[in-house]
Amino acid sequence: MSGQGLFLSFEGIDGSGKSTQARLLDQALQDRGIATLLTREPGGSPGAEEIRALVLQGDPDRWSAETELLLFTAARRDHLERTIQPALAAGKVVICDRFADSTRMYQGTSRGDLRAKVDALHDLMIGVEPDMTLLIDMPADMALSRAKARATDEERFEDFGVGLQQQMRDGFLQLAQDAPERFRVIDGNRTSDVVARDVLDVVLSAL
Ligand code: ADP
Ligand code: TYD
Repeated sequence: MSGQGLFLSFEGIDGSGKSTQARLLDQALQDRGIATLLTREPGGSPGAEEIRALVLQGDPDRWSAETELLLFTAARRDHLERTIQPALAAGKVVICDRFADSTRMYQGTSRGDLRAKVDALHDLMIGVEPDMTLLIDMPADMALSRAKARATDEERFEDFGVGLQQQMRDGFLQLAQDAPERFRVIDGNRTSDVVARDVLDVVLSAL
C-alpha cells in the first residue's frame, strides 16, 4: 500500500470501458463514504493536461516512439507529484484511468521494441506502481468500434488500427500474467453494470 491511501489503476485497450468503470467505481466508493480521487493519464494535473493535447492530437506519425516516451513520462511525473502523491498522503483511494502499463504497451511495443528504455526511464523518473491494476479485457475489434463511435479529436492511437489494438490486448494480458499479485483481469465484454459489480467486489476486498 502506498502511504495511507490506495492507488488503483485501470488499464486496457482503447474503448474497453476503462473510463466508464473508473467513474462508476468512484461513485460507488463515494456512496460508501470512502474518500476518492478520480484522475487520468495522460493528464491529471494542469501541466500534464497540456502535454495530453500534444500526444493525443494530430497525425499518428507526429512523434517518434522515443519522443512520445519522454512526453508521457514528463506528464506522469507532474501528475504524480502534484495530484497522486498528495491524495495518497491524505488517505484517499486514487483511481487512475491508465498509468505506466500503458507506456509499457504503447511506447514499449507499438513501433519496435523499446521496452528496456521504457523500464529504465520508469525506474529513474517514476519508481511507483499502483497497489492494484484492473485490466478491462475485451476483443480488439469490438473495443475499437466502441472507441471510434465516440468521435473525438484524440484519436492518434486509435488511428494506428485494429492490428495495433490486438497487439496491445495480448501485451496487457501478458503483463497481467507477469505480475499476478498486482493485476486483476476483468471481462469487459458485458454490460457496464455487470462489469462494475465485479470491479467493486475486487476493490472492496482489497480495502
Ligand atoms: P475507454 O476509457 O476504455 O476508452 P470508455 O469507458 O470511454 O472506454 O468507453 C468507450 C465507449 O463504449 C463509450 O461510448 C462508452 O459509453 C461505451 N461503453 C463503455 N462500457 C461499455 C459496456 N460495458 N458495454 C457497451 N458500451 C460500453
Ligand atoms: P485514453 O484517453 O485513456 O484513451 P481511450 O479512452 O481511447 O482508452 O488514452 C489516450 C491514448 O493514449 C490511448 O490511445 C493510449 C495512449 N497512451 C500511451 O500511448 N501511453 C501512455 O503512457 C498513456 C497513459 C496513454
